[in-house]
Amino acid sequence: MPRLEREFRFAKETAAAAGKILLAGLKRKRTVTFKGRVDLVTEVDLRSERFITARIARTFPGHTILAEEGGETERGSSYRWIIDPLDGTTNYAHGYPAFCVSIGLEVEGEMALGAVYDPIREELFYAAVGRGAFLNRKRIQVSSETMLSRSLLATGFPYDIAESRIDNMDNFARMYKRARGIRRGGSAALDLCYLACGRLDGFWELKLHSWDTAAGLVLVREAGGYATDFRGRTFSIYDGRILASNGRIHSQMQRVLNSHART
Ligand code: IPD
Ligand code: CA
Ligand code: CA
Repeated sequence: MPRLEREFRFAKETAAAAGKILLAGLKRKRTVTFKGRVDLVTEVDLRSERFITARIARTFPGHTILAEEGGETERGSSYRWIIDPLDGTTNYAHGYPAFCVSIGLEVEGEMALGAVYDPIREELFYAAVGRGAFLNRKRIQVSSETMLSRSLLATGFPYDIAESRIDNMDNFARMYKRARGIRRGGSAALDLCYLACGRLDGFWELKLHSWDTAAGLVLVREAGGYATDFRGRTFSIYDGRILASNGRIHSQMQRVLNSHART
């Protein structure tokens, strides 16, 4: 993997700068439109995304960009930026302070680096392959908890929850009886970062998109954590289902997720 110094610095600076756009937008009246019944988008998602993609196009004009709202701008490059300009839009639209900007870079099909910025707490999480994971310049690592019964987990529920039977409710019900607690933070990217810095011991979710997990996956791996699909196969950001943990409780979580036919 190349050193990617410029790209790494760029990802951190750009996530932090886009975070300021989110913060500024929070103070104004928010205009919300709907992609689906509960899947919404604010003008700030779009403004943040335009800011990030324009900056990439200026700095790395040959790189491909995949961004949540605008889709893919294919440039035939082995470098691909994967952007969630505002992860936690529902929280954001309600003024609930749990959202972030997520920027990941994939090189030759492998996630190489990621930066996630929470502008409310001024927390910048970042990691690059082989170089460790950091929160505001401090090295972070996953927790050392070995027992699911003493673990704090996070999960989320898909936007099509009202229409689909694959809604994560049965997983949630089973897991809740086994863990110390489960949080539904509403930002998958932050959930992964919280796992990376030991605030959470495990996380699972289904029907996620590549932009939800791209940056957070690098954080988790570089912090010593582990990410798979529900069957234990190495996680790819193009899988909808993720099971991520500190590694020590992984098989316990996996058993719970697989202890029922329907997930
Ligand atoms: C959502 C958040 C949420 C997760 C949803 C995602 P968005 O992303 O990450 O935590 O449960 O599945 O779609 O729409 O706020 O960018
Ligand atoms: Ca998202
Ligand atoms: Ca989003």
